[in-house]
Amino acid sequence: MAESIGFSRGADRATVYREITPQIEALIDGETDAIANFANIAAVLKEAFGFFWIGFYVAKDGQLVLGPFQGAVACTRIDFDKGVCGSAFSKRQTEIVSNVDKFPGHIACSSAARSEIVVPVFGRRGEVIAVLDIDSDKLADFSSTDAEALERIASIITARL
Ligand code: SME
Repeated sequence: MAESIGFSRGADRATVYREITPQIEALIDGETDAIANFANIAAVLKEAFGFFWIGFYVAKDGQLVLGPFQGAVACTRIDFDKGVCGSAFSKRQTEIVSNVDKFPGHIACSSAARSEIVVPVFGRRGEVIAVLDIDSDKLADFSSTDAEALERIASIITARL
């Protein structure tokens, strides 16, 4: 099993995603436990990009419950219709928020958060089983490049379930 990942430090984000995606695929190959895979994926994304908070909220008992993450302590439970996470969950689509202060209902787990992306992770039957949430301390730090790459990573998780 791979113990470290390789990528071009300082390269543009699209290049880094292109480099790490097959490594994520290899890393979770043969592992069907979603929590274990969420944990390693959060670690890879943290190593590659250094965002200050990267983690998963898992749909469980009618709420989104904090799962594996890299970063500071965070809110443990989010209602399905609350915050950026709840919005991505209920709309079943990626949410990019350029300025969290302008998103009505944004849940501030950290005052350092300026922009955010949340990507749904689908189960085998098309249900949303979790969301991948990334917070940046820079305004407008996420674009369709991140959305496409992270959706691809989410689909790798689905394929391994
Ligand atoms: N900001 C999120 C809550 C989770 S934290 O960012 C880790 C939201 O509004 O759903």
